[in-house]
Order: sequence, then structure tokens, then C-alpha cells
Amino acid sequence: MNTLHVGIIMDGNGRWAEARGLNRVAGHSRGARRVSDIVSAAPGLGITHLTLYAFSTENWQRPLAEVNGLMRLFRNYILGRMESLRAHDVRVRFIGMRHRVPVHLRQLMEMLEERTRNCRGLNLTIALDYGGRDELSRAVRGLAERVAEGALAPEAIGEEALASALDTRDLPDPDFIIRTSGECRVSNFLLWQATYAEYEFLKIAWPDFTAETLAGSVKGYHRRQRRFGQIGGAAPAARAVAEN
Ligand code: FPP
Repeated sequence: MNTLHVGIIMDGNGRWAEARGLNRVAGHSRGARRVSDIVSAAPGLGITHLTLYAFSTENWQRPLAEVNGLMRLFRNYILGRMESLRAHDVRVRFIGMRHRVPVHLRQLMEMLEERTRNCRGLNLTIALDYGGRDELSRAVRGLAERVAEGALAPEAIGEEALASALDTRDLPDPDFIIRTSGECRVSNFLLWQATYAEYEFLKIAWPDFTAETLAGSVKGYHRRQRRFGQIGGAAPAARAVAEN
């Protein structure tokens, strides 16, 4: 089965709110509504996997009121959408350091994962307390522990072993990553997995990102030629050399 994995860095909630004289949490709250719209629209656009960057390992350093507001929004999202996600066959996974998340939220995250475990439609992954460097260092530590126990030979550590030690071990690599709000940075999102992803940086803030915006982006993605480090257009001479 062909997969299409789209990752989204949902940026610009704070600026969107501040520009309207609202507090930052109001921007995140509007952003949470967009999450529901995008999750509903994704399967109709051929998206099989959708990974949303909801909270980074660095976001704990924001003011307490904002962090608490975000935790409340995540909780409300899970409580409010649990049954509908299951009814729409959406399988939800969380990646990141869940042990640092408040216990009541962590229990809800695990309940949502459990309740949607057998869903076979959209694969929705929410990156929460997630950082690519943290994920890689946890994976390397896990492999090192297995080597120390004698359960793994150092020579067995290659790209495949590392990929299967990551939080994303059950997911294909992202094909296309969108970031809203005009910043052109990767910000610690899927560092290993995005090696050959296509990127799009949009000027609009996340609270203004609609199903139509997503449709336009996916259409643009399909027009791109992906090369995976090879040459495009399969030059016949090069192929002849390779075959000899
Ligand atoms: C970045 O915007 C956004 C976040 C740190 C939070 C993203 C969270 C949501 C959209 C809330 C709901 C999510 C789910 C999964 C229910 P920013 O605050 O850094 O914006 P700024 O750069 O304008 O300050």
C-alpha cells in the first residue's frame, strides 16, 4: 500500500493571538480547533500518516500559565475527541517523553492509544514533549544497554537498528513537512526521519491553516520530483553503465 506521511510544525499561535490582543493560550486554543479540521480532512487528501508537533522538549521553558494552558488543551482534545477519532478509524500514537507529562494527561494519552489501537484508517501521531535529539539519544542509550547486556553485537548497529529503536519505529519516514508562520527552521522535529522529506514553509499562522490550505500544499507536494540523493529523469547513459 502506498503511504503518504505528512508532518506539520504548527507554529504561530502566539503571534496570531497577540496580533488580536488575545493571550497566547487563546491562540493555542484556536490552533487546537484547526487540529480537528486537519485530522478530518487528511484521509480525503490521500494522507495515510499525519504527525503533528504539539509540544517540544524546549516548550517547558515557556511561562507556567502557557504550559498549563497547553496541557489543559491536550487533555480537552483527548476527552472531547476520543470517541470521534475511534469512530473515524483514526489510530493515535504519541511520541516523546511521556513520563514528564502530568500523570492525568499521560493516562488519557495511553487510554486514547489503547482505544484506537485497532483502527486502520489515518495514523495520527502527536509529538508531545518531543525533540529529535532527545529521541535519538534515548534510542542510542537503549542500544548501548543491549550491547552492555550482551544481547546485541556492536556490528549489528546500523541504520535499521537505530530506526527501530526510535519512537517512530512503527511509522514510515515523513514524505512532506509543512511549517506555518514564516519561520524556515526544523526546530528539532523528526531529525532522523526527515532525511529525504520535502519541506514547505508557509507564511500563514497555524490558527489560519484550513483544510483548503492543506489540500493546496498536498497538491504542490505531488508536483515535486523526489530524488532521494539520486539523479532525476533516469539518464539512459548512466543506466547503461550501471548495468554493465
Ligand atoms: C507553536 O506556536 C505552537 C505550539 C507550541 C503549540 C501547538 C499546540 C496546539 C496547536 C494546540 C493543540 C494541539 C493538539 C494536538 C490538540 P507558538 O506559540 O510558538 O507561536 P509563536 O511563534 O507565534 O509564538
